[in-house]
Amino acid sequence: MTARTQALDMLRGVARKDADGRIIHQFATDPGRIDRMGVEAAGLYLDLSKQSWSAEGFEAALDLARTCDVEGRRNALFAGEAVNNTEGRAVLHPALRAADDADFRALGQPVSAEVAEARKAMAAFATDIGSGAETGGSKQPFTAIVHIGIGGSDLGPRLLWEALRPLEPVIDLRFVANIDPRDMGEALAGLDPETTLVVVVSKTFTTQETLANAELAKAWLAESLSPKRMVHHLIGVTAAPEKAEAWGCGRTFGFRDWVGGRYSLWSAVSLSVAVALGWDVFERVLNGARAMDEHFLSADLERNAPVLLALAQIYNVEGRGRHARTVAPYAHGLRRLPAFLQQLEMESNGKRVKRDGTPVDTATSPIVFGEPGTNGQHAFFQQIHQGPQVVPAEFIVVGHTSGAAMDAREGDAPLWSNALAQAQALMVGKTEAEARAELIAAGADEAEADRLAPHKAFPGDRPSTTILMDALSPEAVGALIALYEHKTFVEGVIQDINSFDQWGVELGKALAKAVLADVAAGEPSAGLDPSTAELLKRLMV
Ligand code: F6P
Repeated sequence: MTARTQALDMLRGVARKDADGRIIHQFATDPGRIDRMGVEAAGLYLDLSKQSWSAEGFEAALDLARTCDVEGRRNALFAGEAVNNTEGRAVLHPALRAADDADFRALGQPVSAEVAEARKAMAAFATDIGSGAETGGSKQPFTAIVHIGIGGSDLGPRLLWEALRPLEPVIDLRFVANIDPRDMGEALAGLDPETTLVVVVSKTFTTQETLANAELAKAWLAESLSPKRMVHHLIGVTAAPEKAEAWGCGRTFGFRDWVGGRYSLWSAVSLSVAVALGWDVFERVLNGARAMDEHFLSADLERNAPVLLALAQIYNVEGRGRHARTVAPYAHGLRRLPAFLQQLEMESNGKRVKRDGTPVDTATSPIVFGEPGTNGQHAFFQQIHQGPQVVPAEFIVVGHTSGAAMDAREGDAPLWSNALAQAQALMVGKTEAEARAELIAAGADEAEADRLAPHKAFPGDRPSTTILMDALSPEAVGALIALYEHKTFVEGVIQDINSFDQWGVELGKALAKAVLADVAAGEPSAGLDPSTAELLKRLMV
């Protein structure tokens, strides 16, 4: 038995014991709980005291992190070692938000000067578009941007834009991801090609959806602009600039293969957002993420926010068999955070083998889902409160959501009260006896109270984490996203998996091509499984 499996077994054992107690009782027996399980990092405050772990469970989780050498692996990532071992790549998204004079190296090669140059080019482009110095082919300033990309080339920039956009933006930024042409149709509606910039974002520049959408956008531009003028409207953002240029982009912004798609929003992948928000705002996002990097690098494990957030999940998944987690950001601006986290966490850690190719010996990524608060409360929270499966929840609560037309305090207090009340309700619950007493007090007779009390009781003892942000500021948003990135990495370290490849997406892509070939041939190919063949026949009529 290795030290890691011993530490895992210890955590599982303590978690089994913890199941005999209740979260709420931990506060009485452990007066230091709030201080120990509350941690500040880069302007955020995390409250992990409503998690199910006892003091002993918390310690067992920390021991596991120490045994798995989380600190050593973290240092290897920041040192640019081949942490992505199946692709032989460094993983250096922190280099993208580091200071200009930083000295990051990918597999030994210096990268910081190149990052600073790329940032300078982005900043100049953003400023020139804003000032009108950079114009379209007919010398008119740009008033709209259509950002085309999918997965990591879409979710991060979209999240940033929705979190930070002004109510009435100067540049109308629209996103297109889906291969369904309706997505592009909606994005282009009402836009003028003469004043629209199309930014095609694809790390590989081979993604079917993105290329199909890019063709649609190009055809739309071509209806109004000559080829010579059109090149001013087509920008590529990619790690394969030769492909983007060959396709017809007038200008490209690059990034390297040591930036994973789902970790790429710090790069030129967010060019359109940097243009539409203004470079100064984007820079503040980078600063917030950098502050989280510094915290992750320097804080002791027991005070380290990404580490503790990861450990809470490991405890839930591995110790208590809770294979889902819901994320509820109580801010309209963060409504796409659950979608972003689905890719970040499930594409990173939805793995079945360890780094050495042998089967995993733990569960890996749970199912991550969510909706902004308070919307989720009126939809699936019924299950979270009363369903038999326990689903840990994560509440993100923002002091000042900003952007609201009304006075911020009046606007935000209802959000806080709902978030805090949900977390509290999940933890304290309501016994059948309490529910019964309430029914009697409300005038029900004994028989009616007996009949309804089981339906109105809440088991409680359901875990949650609350993350507080003072405001939906660029810094706080940057810090929040970096928090989740590092959390995801720490989980991967403990599970001993490579969080930075995504081979699981490949089979479906290859089979989609084969199905398309069958459609072109007019019939299902011999050897296609009967179910798929039948569905295809029905679709082809
Ligand atoms: O298919 C999955 C994936 O490769 C993601 O990892 C990536 O973020 C997305 O597709 C888009 O890829 P690209 O930026 O190369 O178009």
